[in-house]
This record gives sequence, structure tokens and C-alpha cells, in this order.
Amino acid sequence: MAGVKRNILVTSALPYANGSIHIGHLVEYIQTDIWVRFQRLMGHDVLYVCGDDSHGTPIMVNAQKRGIDPETFITQMNQQHKEDFAKFGVAFDNFYTTHSPLNRELSEQIYLRVKDAGYTVRKEIEQFYDPVASTFLADRFIKGTCPFCKTPDQYGDGCESCNRTYNPTDLIDPKSVFSGATPVLKKSEHIYLRLEPARDFLVKLYEAGFVDPSVANKLKEWFAEPLRDWDISRDARFFGFEIPGETGKYFYNWFDAPIGYLASLGNKLGLDAAKTQKYWNDPEMEIFHFIGKDIQYFHALFWPTMLNAAGLRVPTKLAIHGFLTVNGEKMSKSRGTFINASVYAKHLDPQYLRYYFATKLGPTPEDLDLSFEDFAGRINGELVNKLANLVSRCAPMLSRMLEGKLGVSAADAVPLLREIRGAADELAAAYDGRNYALVTRTICTLADKANKYFEDQAPWKLVKADPEAARGVLTAALEAGRILTIYLKPILPDFAAKVEKCLVIQPLEWDDLQEAMEPHAIHPFEHLVQRLDMKLVENMVEESKESLSQKSDAANQAPATATAAGAPQPTVTTPASTASAKPAAPAHPDEEPLAPIINFDQFLAVDLRIARVLTAESLEKSDKLMKITLDVGHLGQRTILAGIKKAYTPEKLVGRLVMFCANLAPRTMGKFGTSEGMICAAGPGPVEVFVLSPDAGAKPGQRVH
Ligand code: 2FM
Ligand code: ZN
Repeated sequence: MAGVKRNILVTSALPYANGSIHIGHLVEYIQTDIWVRFQRLMGHDVLYVCGDDSHGTPIMVNAQKRGIDPETFITQMNQQHKEDFAKFGVAFDNFYTTHSPLNRELSEQIYLRVKDAGYTVRKEIEQFYDPVASTFLADRFIKGTCPFCKTPDQYGDGCESCNRTYNPTDLIDPKSVFSGATPVLKKSEHIYLRLEPARDFLVKLYEAGFVDPSVANKLKEWFAEPLRDWDISRDARFFGFEIPGETGKYFYNWFDAPIGYLASLGNKLGLDAAKTQKYWNDPEMEIFHFIGKDIQYFHALFWPTMLNAAGLRVPTKLAIHGFLTVNGEKMSKSRGTFINASVYAKHLDPQYLRYYFATKLGPTPEDLDLSFEDFAGRINGELVNKLANLVSRCAPMLSRMLEGKLGVSAADAVPLLREIRGAADELAAAYDGRNYALVTRTICTLADKANKYFEDQAPWKLVKADPEAARGVLTAALEAGRILTIYLKPILPDFAAKVEKCLVIQPLEWDDLQEAMEPHAIHPFEHLVQRLDMKLVENMVEESKESLSQKSDAANQAPATATAAGAPQPTVTTPASTASAKPAAPAHPDEEPLAPIINFDQFLAVDLRIARVLTAESLEKSDKLMKITLDVGHLGQRTILAGIKKAYTPEKLVGRLVMFCANLAPRTMGKFGTSEGMICAAGPGPVEVFVLSPDAGAKPGQRVH
């Protein structure tokens, strides 16, 4: 291990329990998980905790809509969230919930100390109230017609058409997003956290490196004016914790959500509330919060104020990231780019996303774009062709030509291996500073050099004249592949596990990079990562359109950072404001690069058959899909869902002979059913598609060789 052993507590923001995890969320969890895995690879002690943010009105309303109580609803969501994160390799030590006895106790104790320290104040406010749903309404839960430009269906705090801001009371014909009822004004007393007494403490905190300097400068702008008190209470009906000493008043979920970091820690370690706080206060432990820039206001202003007022230490640092756009635009349900984690994982390898996000993530809160064209280019061009290529080519070659036995690296590879090892400190610093874009760039450059060495030495030719020299070259190339795998391991844990298995080595740690592998026998090759097929991206987008179209009810769309009237309004930059005018990238590249070479056995594994089209139906509810029944001779009939609706009418297909892949695993395509194979066609699609047919005489059921 390099340097002193660190003891680090790491958190990612607690996701709301009122919705599914989507690829926008995953930026943060993948970013954090990579950092945690890196620190562990270096030998440091890390605890990574998280959990659901399980309180609030939208949760109550969503549960009611489903006819279940909020507790059941958040338990189901908690399970779903855990499953989604696991699919992407996000390995929390604990994924808890804010709706837990420990969090209640911690929230009560912290609140009472904050109050005793004189940090709270009571104020009467007048607020919109939904008389049908029996709940007060934050600005974003009210919609109506803009008082300025008269655009209908605008939120209570501002118009998305003319961009003007106003009070919800200014809206024409306001309606509650929960019940559709006309809200009424109602007076109520609220409890506020005072921020002004924390002013000097906060300024000093930013100067001491609590956030990166660029963020610190931005935060200091807030201090030009008196800091406004923050409303931490909500009136009944509300799903949350009742405030001690009050009746019918609940903690605003943004009060007990960050306390959930402590609760998750305490729950993991089996500590009670007092011991959890003691553990948290350990000055030897570093605490890192990974968050998005939309919630920096809460974490940089309210949270340290709460902690300080309650006599608790503040975290070491906020690691702040930007928003995700897809194809240069805000994620969109209608375009199918609002992609849930579970839908992504059904179609594409989660390793792709981990790698792609890594190539895009730097230390600053800049937004990042997932362009599908760039995504495919990087996965196939970098991950498959550069990074996986070394081990994927050398291991089978060593097995085939030289009994799979590693020897000693060729002498002419010494400079290459020295250079690869020499990058370790630079890469470690980049990981620690969250500059994963630099990490992946550096690794790719090194992989280029290792691949070039392998190509130049051509061990497949060398083996004929000098088998031991060829063994030395392959050993060196695999040694390079092993070191690069150490560097990649925080980003691609599955890939690393496969390399470890193939090379028959113990789980790799950072310190293993200096010592070369001893000569030993390796296992036959295992596929490290598949080439990305754009068709799968298309299918994912298609399913995202379908699966979300029915779900766009108002409560689900309620924004994450709704605040009650009277609360300070952070400037929330939404992905919408970062959208560029760039058109979406074409879905199909016209000139696809050649897929990796396969051997004869792999070719034989694909069972292509002749079939005759019996029926064809253009699916009304889909842009692309056609439902086709095939007669496959002695193999019976098959139903295929093919994305050729834009290129063919049913009449052009019925009766025609086609070729299709008969042993492709059946694939469910949302509400359209299951496809039992794939018809062979050429062209970039969706309009330019050419279905392949055999010459007359071929018979349904015959195999294509
Ligand atoms: O913005 C959000 O999604 C919040 N649920 C994050 C809470 S982070 C922490 F404070 F709990
Ligand atoms: Zn307007």
C-alpha cells in the first residue's frame, strides 16, 4: 500500500424512494463506486453507505394510488433499488432507509440539540393547501396558466415557456398536481433553521477545502446577502417523522435525509444513536459525500449548519458532479432516452456504462453527455478492440500454440513494461482526484503501445522458428494485460475477475503491479466483453418509450428538490437548461467496423435457417416493429418481432423465403411480446433495410452453412 492507511466513510446521495433508478442517477453511484473500489485496491479501509430517502408527500400519494400503505411502498422500492444497483456493480456496504427507528432517534436528538443551541425560529406563513388530498402544496406541486404569457400547465414557481418566475398565488386557475383540486390559502406556523449565525463557520469551511475551489467561489456568492432561514417542518398529512414537542408537524424530508447517512453507518456497524454519533465524530475518519450539483445547496449550507449546531463534526469533502444529457439533450420519455437502470441492464452489459461514464467523468461538476454513437465507438474501439484485445488474443494463442504455459517476458518488452508500471502514481493520483477521464485516456494509450508490441512481434509467425521466443512475447503481452487490468479494476470489476480467472492469479491489488507473474499454466480463454451491437441500443430505447409512456402521472414527475413557500430557493439548474441544440446522433452508423474474428466453432454455434413468411403485421403502437410468423419446416413455426416496419409493408413479405437466426435466446420486447429469433437483413435501418432471401429451391427448415 502506498503511504498511510486511510479510514474513509463514503456516501452517495440517498435516492428518493418514489421512483426507479435511471441512468441519470447511475452517474453518481458509478462514480462513487469506482472511487471506493480504487481506495480499497490501494489497501485503505472504506465504508460505503447509502439508503433510500423514504419520506415526503409524493411517496404518500404514490402509495395511495397503488392502494398500499407508504411503508409497503418504500419497502418494495428499497428492494428494487438494491437489485438495480447490484446489476451495475455498485457495492454498498449498507443500503438502508431514512424511515427507520435509528434514523428517527438520530433526527430527534440532532433536532433537539440544534434547537437548544438557538438555531431554530418559528414563523407563521400562508400557503396553498389541497383540500382533497389534505396536504399543503409546495410550489412545484401546483400547476396553472402563466400570469405573463398565458401558457397553460406551468409550475407554481416559474414558467418554462417565458422563463419568468412568480409566486404560486399569481398562477391563473391553479390546480393541485395530486388531486386536481383548486388549492386554498391556509395559514400555518413553521419551524426554521437559522443560517445567519453559521455564516463565519461556513465561510471558513469552504476556505478549508470542503469543496473544490471552483465550487467554493460559486458558494461564496450566496453570502453577499443575509442567509435566509430554512423551513424544516411540514404539516400533516405528511409521511415522515413527527417533530418532538410538536403536534401534527413533521420533519421536512431534507432534514432527516442527510441524517440518514449516519443512520446507515450505525445500522451497518450495529451501533445505537449515541454510539453512531461518537463514531461519526472520529477525527481520524475522513468523510466524503458524493452528490450532484443540484443538491450542493443542501449539503454545503444546511447540512454543515445542522451538524455544527448539534455539536457534530462536518464531512471532509463534497465531491460534486454534473448532470447527464443523452445525445446532447435532456433525457426524454418520448424519445426513449429516459432509461431506467433495469431496462438498460436487460439489453446492454452494465460494464459498458461503467466504462463510458468513466471516460466522461472529471473532478469538476461539468455536465456529461451520453451520445449513443460515441458510446458505441468507445466500447467497440477502446474497451473491446484495445483493452480486452490483449488478453483476448494472447491467452488463446498461448493455449493453442504453447500448451498455455507462461514463461519469462521477452527482453525486448522491458521498456514497454517499465513504461506501463511507471504510470502507476499518475493513475493513482487521477483516481483519487476523481479524474477518471484522465485514467481511461492514459490506460488506452498504454494499451495501444502493448498492442503494437504484440503486432510487431507477431508471435503467431515467430512460433514456427522459435517457440520459446514466441512464449516470451506472449508472456510479456499478457503481463502488460495484467497490469492494465489492475489499473482498470475499479472501473471494470467483472472484466478484472475474468482476467484473473483466465490468467489463474489471485484477486489483483494495486501493489501487485510491480511483481511479474511467475511462469505457470493459464486457463483457456474466457470472453471478456462482447462487442456492442447498436441494435441492442435501439431495442433499449424502444422499450424505454413503451415502458414509461403509461407511467407519466403528475406525482411521479414531481421534481426532486421541491421546497415549501418561504424556504430559500436554491438555484436549481436542471438538465433542461444544459440541453444543446445539437441534433440526435444517427442510430445506425453506415459503415460498421468489422466484428472481432471468430473461430469455426463459434460460427457453427449460430444456427441460421431458411423460413417462409406466413403472416406479417405492422404493430400500430410501435414506430418500428412488425410481428412476423415464420414457417420453419420440420422446426414448426416462430413468431419474430422485427424492426422493419418503416421499410416493408406486410404484403411485400408474406410468402417470401428469408434467413433467420433460429437459436437466439427469446427476447421480450415490452408489451409487444416475445421475439423468437432474428431475421437477417442488411443496411443501417430503420428505412434502409434489406431482408435477405435465398435463391428459389431452398426449403423452410434447411440450415444455412
Ligand atoms: O435529490 C435527491 O434525490 C435527494 N433524495 C437526495 C438526498 S441526499 C441526502 F441528503 F440524503
Ligand atoms: Zn409564461
